[in-house]
Amino acid sequence: MNDGDGTLAAQDRGRQFGPLGTALVIIPTYNEAENIKAIVGRVRKAVPEAHVLVADDNSPDGTGKLADELAVEDDHVQVLHRKGKEGLGAAYLAGFRWGLEHGYGVLVEMDADGSHQPEELPRLLTALKSADLVLGSRWVPGGRVVNWPRSREVISRGGSLYSRLALDLPLRDVTGGYRAFRRETLEGLGLDDVASQGYCFQVDLARRAVKAGFHVVEVPITFVERELGDSKMSRDILVEALWRVTSWGAQERVGKLVSRAKPAQQRPQP
Ligand code: GDD
Ligand code: MN
Repeated sequence: MNDGDGTLAAQDRGRQFGPLGTALVIIPTYNEAENIKAIVGRVRKAVPEAHVLVADDNSPDGTGKLADELAVEDDHVQVLHRKGKEGLGAAYLAGFRWGLEHGYGVLVEMDADGSHQPEELPRLLTALKSADLVLGSRWVPGGRVVNWPRSREVISRGGSLYSRLALDLPLRDVTGGYRAFRRETLEGLGLDDVASQGYCFQVDLARRAVKAGFHVVEVPITFVERELGDSKMSRDILVEALWRVTSWGAQERVGKLVSRAKPAQQRPQP
């Protein structure tokens, strides 16, 4: 566990981590025709041994077709074609399932629009050598955001702070989407019952990882706002995040109260 200031909790000191297997970089796409070729090219150049899986939700702008062209040229590139727009969470779950089935040792989340710079991926992977999950973080020292409107920064910082407090998480960037998981970590998160559809999927996975006792490390990143295409952030995505985080927080508080009450009930009567 990362206790928030980069030091290790006592139980993690001296823990051994196994070698990292081959990495699969999963890139979810919805209408990213202007970005897909550039991002895949950058990943292939930055980490040539990694494989790429584009998880496209049948984008009307033909992103899936462009991805297919890349896959024909390059055996390190695969495409997962999905029926239609079902949200970021569903696309990642399908991508993770595919990657686990195909034996990858590391599964990476990365946006298609260039906000998550592939050139920073080697740093995330180095950190993963001694962690179960690495979060690319905008809100730790050294992390930053380039070209974001003030309004977007307020939403993101507020969302992270709210999630951190409501869920008691020792993390700074809870909603970010640039991450590297060991396969064993994903296998331990109970992905079969993840219902989060939109960007709260990221909060959901971070919360599950912390609760399961995994060693989560935040690495500073420079998040660069997209230059081409549009963000898919919407009011519905925000509303889903707000109600899910609030209800997880309430459930956890009730759970803690119940477990605190139990020992008292079990105490032998004088
Ligand atoms: N397959 C699929 N289906 N992909 C999607 C969907 C969907 O329904 N919705 C969004 N995506 C893809 C986009 O095409 C892009 O590659 C990536 O998910 C991120 O979408 P953006 O719309 O660019 O997100 P953002 O820049 O507004 O949000 C960023 O910040 C969020 C909050 O911190 C991202 O980093 C998110 O991951 C992050 O949660
Ligand atoms: Mn974006």
